[in-house]
Amino acid sequence: MDIVSTKEMLSDAKKRKYAVPAFNIHNLETMQGVLEVANELKSPVILATTPGTVSYAGADYLVAMAKVGAKRYNIPISLHLDHCSDINILKKCIESGYKSVMIDASLKPYEENLMITKEVVEFAHTYNVSVESELGLVSGQEEERDIKDSDSIFTDPYVALDFVEKTKIDSLAVAIGTAHGVYKAEPKLDFERLKKINSLIDVPLVLHGASGVPAESIIKAIEYGICKVNIATELKIPFADAIKEFFERNPNASDPRHYLIPAKEALKKVVAEKIQICDSINRG
Ligand code: 13P
Repeated sequence: MDIVSTKEMLSDAKKRKYAVPAFNIHNLETMQGVLEVANELKSPVILATTPGTVSYAGADYLVAMAKVGAKRYNIPISLHLDHCSDINILKKCIESGYKSVMIDASLKPYEENLMITKEVVEFAHTYNVSVESELGLVSGQEEERDIKDSDSIFTDPYVALDFVEKTKIDSLAVAIGTAHGVYKAEPKLDFERLKKINSLIDVPLVLHGASGVPAESIIKAIEYGICKVNIATELKIPFADAIKEFFERNPNASDPRHYLIPAKEALKKVVAEKIQICDSINRG
């Protein structure tokens, strides 16, 4: 198989009420860890890369690695550009072979977000690439994007309806109380708002900032229309902790093939837990 767009994946998830997990990966080992578990559990999976990761690893390398995974494993695998506000990076990723992108103009005024998203949809759809966009403002920190909790804006269901109709996006990221990064207190999700958005809008809905959200809340969010669950921080921390522990025990070690193995194993444990919560096992 080749890497696929997220459109069919998410429409199946919507129909059958589960979610496809989107894991942020950064290099070969994190991508391998995610794909090995997804393959064992026969789960469709989205490999998410931020513009920071694209600049770190190179779009061509990331596409080539994802294609190797798709060829090796018989499960639907998508390569997604996460939170991109720069149209030039976005177009470059699409031209390099990405199958899914998120245009993030959520910091702009509504009309501008609408205009930019429309332009991206027109471009991406000519390549059969699916487009996600955010309406409202999810707080927290993800790379350069750092939004205070007090500045978060929850998604207005009726504005979301207008936005989806006018832009023709394939999926909508909603702000309902989650945040990127580590939570200071347990997040309280606005399920009534989510239910309303889901009743008005046809496209699959996306939950950002899923690290640290209790499993019951994610399961309930899926029941109310969430079809894609984004996880970054909860993979990064155990990966890094395992490397730190390895060097505490082996201060003179230097071989990446040794210290990256426990890191990958720690990441794989979390990937398996999240796939189970998304109920995406055997959906691939
Ligand atoms: P977390 O880092 O909170 O898991 O958020 C991930 C995310 O939403 C990526 O877009």
